[in-house]
Amino acid sequence: MSQGTRPRGRRVLLIVSGGIAAYKTPELVRAFVAAGCEVQVVMTPAAAAFVSELSLATVSTRPVRKRLLDPEEEGHVGHIELADWPDLVVVAPATADLLARATAGMADDLAATVLLATRAPVLWAPAMNTNMWRHPATQANLATLRSRGAEFVGPDRGQLACGWIGEGRMIDPPLIVAAALAKLEARGPWAGKRVLVSAGPTRTYIDLVRFVTNASTGAMGFALAEAARHAGAEVTLVAGPVELATPQGVRRVDVETAEQMYAALEGELSQEPYDWVAMVAAVQDLEVDGGAARKLEKAELLTRLPTLGWRTARDVLAALTARYGRGAPAGAPRSRFLGFAAQTVEDGPEDRLQQELIRLGEAKLRAKGADAIFVNRVGAPGVGFASATNAGLLLAYDGEAIAVRASGPPIAKAALATWLLDALVTT
Ligand SMILES: Cc1cc2nc3c(=O)[nH]c(=O)nc-3n(C[C@H](O)[C@H](O)[C@H](O)COP(=O)(O)O)c2cc1C
Repeated sequence: MSQGTRPRGRRVLLIVSGGIAAYKTPELVRAFVAAGCEVQVVMTPAAAAFVSELSLATVSTRPVRKRLLDPEEEGHVGHIELADWPDLVVVAPATADLLARATAGMADDLAATVLLATRAPVLWAPAMNTNMWRHPATQANLATLRSRGAEFVGPDRGQLACGWIGEGRMIDPPLIVAAALAKLEARGPWAGKRVLVSAGPTRTYIDLVRFVTNASTGAMGFALAEAARHAGAEVTLVAGPVELATPQGVRRVDVETAEQMYAALEGELSQEPYDWVAMVAAVQDLEVDGGAARKLEKAELLTRLPTLGWRTARDVLAALTARYGRGAPAGAPRSRFLGFAAQTVEDGPEDRLQQELIRLGEAKLRAKGADAIFVNRVGAPGVGFASATNAGLLLAYDGEAIAVRASGPPIAKAALATWLLDALVTT
């Protein structure tokens, strides 16, 4: 099954069983998709009496899986592939019947078989008549499933479809999604880690309205912030002027100039170290003396331009690693830094290009005092600033030596962000 371009760690297998609350599941799927999850729906035969397969296939953008003993659906041991695929299994609504079958370890339809075969955590959202819920058989099944690691969300109290008022109503879809996301984010090697990301360009102002900038769109940094958040990290994003929405759950600080970018990052790092600081922003490397605080008229601008004094700006990454990274005083708490280096390398045979990028990357890694650096060749097809995809080499210290890992052919920036996080975990 393809992983798609969504960040890994958000694959939800939704099992819909045959309760009346199944009619709410298209909304549930939509809420999962809006939260950045990839959703595969499995229905029990009884569920098909309560909700349309077509609705679920449309909102999940995947065919619904229903039958176990079907050569077309099954393909090459499809039920095991299905069980291996998700990061989380959600059963909503969970009938008394499916709870009982799962407790007994039955595998008499696709849903029960997947529940038996999966190693992913399972979140159940039960829904049934109050008496069915309170029945000692159901309560004993719950206790058994809990003792095996299953978690439950709901049921709620309220008006039930059968006319009763009481416990047994499926908890509302947004609350199921919130519980599922909390479970997804509490897992994995980035859970509880703090990540600081800088993204986008900065501006060097010549007058009040005119500035020099670069082609960075912020896409790579935002993708990295989102992937880190999805992987469970607590993420702060310091963003230059870009047209991008803040990824859900990420704290964002907006800046405009290189000095503001430095001040914002320094402010963060001086409070508490971060596990990783990913410096993805394309910070302007020139400052100007003689700029105007007001808008210059055209004629004034023409006379002023040749007299402007350009000088190199503070090297934000090097300045921060010197204080809070590898250059921090011995024994002081320190953060680890990942730099990004966009390089242009003249065309030539692939292995020579690679060697040249490694040489440039090593020099940058040392000069910046970073712990790792991602080097890409801007201008190459599918790589760099305005591209939706990216590729490059990750150079990271392995003791005193420097290890090099290639990300492979260009892939979506979201997928590359996940690749980088996986690589950094072992760095
Ligand atoms: C109209 C109607 C509504 C039902 N609602 C529920 C329900 O909310 N919860 C439940 O556990 N069973 C409910 N059932 C019973 C299940 O549909 C039945 O136990 C079925 O075998 C469940 O199959 P499944 O667990 O494979 O989906 C309902 C049955 C009917 C006819």
